[in-house]
Amino acid sequence: MAILISHVLLRPSLTCLCHAATLPWSRRNSYAFKFSYRVAARGSWQKEANQMEEAIVDADKLRADFLRVLRSRRSGEVPLNVKHTEPVLNPLIQEANPPTFSKAMASCPKATLSNLKGLLHEENLHLTTEEGEQGQLPILIISMEESRQQKRPAIVFLHSTNKCKEWLRPLLEAYASRGYVAVAIDSRYHGERAKNKTTYRDALISSWKRGDTMPFIFDTVWDLIKLADYLTEREDIDPCRIGITGESLGGMHAWFAAAADTRYSVVIPIIGVQCFQWAIDNDKWQARVESIKPVFEEARIELGMNEINKEVVKKVWSRIAPGLDSQFDSIYSVSAIAPRPLLLLNGADDPRCPIAGLDAPISRTQTAYQKFGCPEKFKFIAQPGICHEMTPEMVKEASDWFDRFLLHSIEE
Ligand SMILES: *[C@@H]1O[C@H](CO)[C@@H](O)[C@H](O)[C@H]1NC(C)=O
Repeated sequence: MAILISHVLLRPSLTCLCHAATLPWSRRNSYAFKFSYRVAARGSWQKEANQMEEAIVDADKLRADFLRVLRSRRSGEVPLNVKHTEPVLNPLIQEANPPTFSKAMASCPKATLSNLKGLLHEENLHLTTEEGEQGQLPILIISMEESRQQKRPAIVFLHSTNKCKEWLRPLLEAYASRGYVAVAIDSRYHGERAKNKTTYRDALISSWKRGDTMPFIFDTVWDLIKLADYLTEREDIDPCRIGITGESLGGMHAWFAAAADTRYSVVIPIIGVQCFQWAIDNDKWQARVESIKPVFEEARIELGMNEINKEVVKKVWSRIAPGLDSQFDSIYSVSAIAPRPLLLLNGADDPRCPIAGLDAPISRTQTAYQKFGCPEKFKFIAQPGICHEMTPEMVKEASDWFDRFLLHSIEE
């Protein structure tokens, strides 16, 4: 694929303790100590150690602030509880004419096995992540029946707007065939968490009116933190090898969940990463707004404006996803994923994720990976001629990245 790789910076790098990044934030101190110790052994240690400490402190502060926002609109904490449920036979897709096939997903590399379907094991679960109806997180897990006794790498897959976990089945089966535990969820107000075709839309409007929930990205990030609690406890999953990826809205979920929770150790947001602040400052917010228009329309009317303008956009973000276009925007939250292997896949002509807006976030992220001494663990690919679309080339790049960091490279 013809690609544009924005970072190629090679220098003899310090060993990057990849697995250390999977520790929960509460155990940061031992992690920082280990880093300093390593660096010291290599010389010129003081400057490097200081820079690394600074990157760790910045990222930890972002995580603490973000967690505070997530906690501010919870319905009530509950103990983690998981129950088995029935497979969903007619999954709800909140579109007038739901598609039935995705060429990109169907192209995902798989192991050549005759009778693959017969070798797969499937689980349907509900995990309690908070009180109330939306506090039930529906999970679909697909893995190879024969290898369920050993600990394996897992990958969490997040669907796009209006889709659901079952839509991702071709990806889940392909990754399962290659030895992963493939995990998908319904994000908030989607799939099993939706009543009808307007549930997600209605929830966004309700959040604008009442300011008591965060249906756009943030509430699902809460679920993904709880999901990490669950996955790291499973007998068949190696807690140090849990990847996360998703398409479009799912790409945003992958990005923010990885920023919030370091247990997601390899990260691939697909056509999700954008700069919300840049879009407002540069009059490029229209395509993003169009994707969830009704909430902006409701806000326009309430604010007495003739048309949706940047004031309306800013007010909506600050009400339904506080900090999205400021303290948690990509410039800060993408760099907080360092030093974990991070691949960003976008379309070069995507109007919802304008790549001109990514210059600053990418340069800050490169700096963060350099501070950690592992610039090769960050890669940004903008596929030329592609708008808001996940392509077979992106699916292949993502597969290779996961295989490289979750299957083949066990550091230390
Ligand atoms: C969807 O369900 C909600 C809540 O039950 C209801 O208010 C709304 O009218 C329904 N929408 C449609 C299109 O059926």
